[in-house]
Amino acid sequence: MYRIEISVHRFMETRSDFLVMGSGIAGLSFALKACKYGSVVIVTKRSCEESSTKYAQGGIASVMAEDDSYDLHIKDTIEAGAGLCHEDAVRLVVENGPDRIRELIELGAKFTLRDEDVLDLGREGGHSKRRIVHATDFTGEEIEGALIKAVKKNNNIRIYENHIAIDLITKSRLESDIKSGGKDDMVLGAYVLDKNKGEVKSFLSKITLLATGGAGKVYLYTSNPDIATGDGVAMAYRAGAKIANMEFIQFHPTCIYHPQAKSFLISEAVRGEGGILRLKDGNTFMEKYHPMGCLAPRDIVARAIDFEMKKSGDDHIYLDVTHMEGYRIRERFPNIYKKCLSLGIDITKMPIPVVPATHYICGGIVTDLYGKTNIRRLYASGEVSFTGVHGANRLASNSLLEALVFSNRAANVAAKELREIPSEEITIPPWDIGNAVDSDESVVVSNNWDEIRRIMWNYVGIVRSNKRLKRAKRRLDILLEEIKEYYWNFIITSDLIELRNIATVADIIIQCAMMRKESRGLHYNIDYPQRDDINWRKDTIL
Ligand code: FAD
Ligand code: SIN
Repeated sequence: MYRIEISVHRFMETRSDFLVMGSGIAGLSFALKACKYGSVVIVTKRSCEESSTKYAQGGIASVMAEDDSYDLHIKDTIEAGAGLCHEDAVRLVVENGPDRIRELIELGAKFTLRDEDVLDLGREGGHSKRRIVHATDFTGEEIEGALIKAVKKNNNIRIYENHIAIDLITKSRLESDIKSGGKDDMVLGAYVLDKNKGEVKSFLSKITLLATGGAGKVYLYTSNPDIATGDGVAMAYRAGAKIANMEFIQFHPTCIYHPQAKSFLISEAVRGEGGILRLKDGNTFMEKYHPMGCLAPRDIVARAIDFEMKKSGDDHIYLDVTHMEGYRIRERFPNIYKKCLSLGIDITKMPIPVVPATHYICGGIVTDLYGKTNIRRLYASGEVSFTGVHGANRLASNSLLEALVFSNRAANVAAKELREIPSEEITIPPWDIGNAVDSDESVVVSNNWDEIRRIMWNYVGIVRSNKRLKRAKRRLDILLEEIKEYYWNFIITSDLIELRNIATVADIIIQCAMMRKESRGLHYNIDYPQRDDINWRKDTIL
């Protein structure tokens, strides 16, 4: 059942061939391709540029150097993925990478050059070669800027900022004899709250793309911006889409530890260029954990830091670049240098205090190799999706690449599907608001939000146990009940929409983590400390 505030607000309707939810790299690059075949509407919950994409630092991994090869990039990706990468998806992403990067350059993205016309390729953890295309450490801003500029020039694309999608409109929800997520079900668009006007509108479309990004805000400490509340996964799950591998939450090893920094990321490229991880006493430790030392895959580095911090009781470790030349640091990492300096840390002279924080969600909405979900007319791309590329641990800088490649493939196939969809007048029946009233208790929303994020950080974090997972589940079940009640009784706000979604995603993460009875990649359970390839070399599908 949906609820729409028909009696409170005027009911508005918008129609398009393609509805894109999200304006990060996945949504914008899809829109730019799809607009050649039909009208495109983008809804995005804040300003157009606000996305994880905008904050990406390191860059995009791709085979661009003479001494590199597709096979090496595939091997590195699969090794980081700890036995769960789908090789066909990895091959596709790696082999399509160079073309997608050339397209970004043609759109106007300016990446850092080593010599005239030769890209400066960076190095990051788990990569055996230099293959990270970057724009110093402002890579995301450069890409997002180029994409937005192109989208805004296009008359076939309309953008609705400050519009937050609430739920997908599916046939099964309108017709009771159709099974949710079954073969006759299909997505017809979405209900969306216009945050400025407080109106709920229906956006009807022939093809819908979820490109709503990640869910870092489910955890207390995260590198992610505030938009990352897992809305797409939650909406798709409620609509009956398959969701997979949500236990694989990636913790980035190095976010700055500072009360005013809100988990600002210190890019892995800093270690790629020679940054050294040290304990508070100055000693190094990564050589004990992996032959690649500080450049080991992220799951190993984050767990090693967590272990060392718990052993010593320290609240952070250090990332040290003081041995590197000052001008080189300022030139290669101007964003990080400036941010740290604003916090009183001159990184050319002092080590940077860092801790791990939630960074990326390897699981998501299951798609095929064209971004199609199990529900007709619904596609997903970017961090919200599960394509099989990342396995149990994503290799650094493979996320932007995956989004570009899959959005391109999805747009091509969706254009073909569009041609086969008959023009039909869909009517959405008005819904009953029930007895919903304006909430006078927003403190409930903020308290529940805070509690969920603490539960997830404390019990479903880098190191898990059966007892911690059960405790998290018990507490979350109570909160889910409370939020459900609140959702139905009060007029919808964007805070309430996000709270409901982080609770749903937290529940999905716990369910997946409880199912997997082994330790692998980013999922580490002290009650099953070994990897079990006989029983668990498979995805966790809900
Ligand atoms: P996003 O870029 O997050 O965009 C999601 C969009 O959906 C936003 O516009 C958001 O407002 C909108 N949205 C969300 N919910 C709703 C809703 N309910 N209704 C309407 N709109 C909604 N990856 C790399 O490969 N290389 C890197 O160097 C790198 N660095 C990173 C640094 C940081 C600090 C972070 C946080 C991530 C980094 N990542 C990096 C990961 C990568 O940036 C993201 O995985 C990627 O940008 C996701 O792109 P996306 O388009 O899927 O989602
Ligand atoms: C970083 O710059 O360390 C982030 C890279 C990534 O998340 O892929």
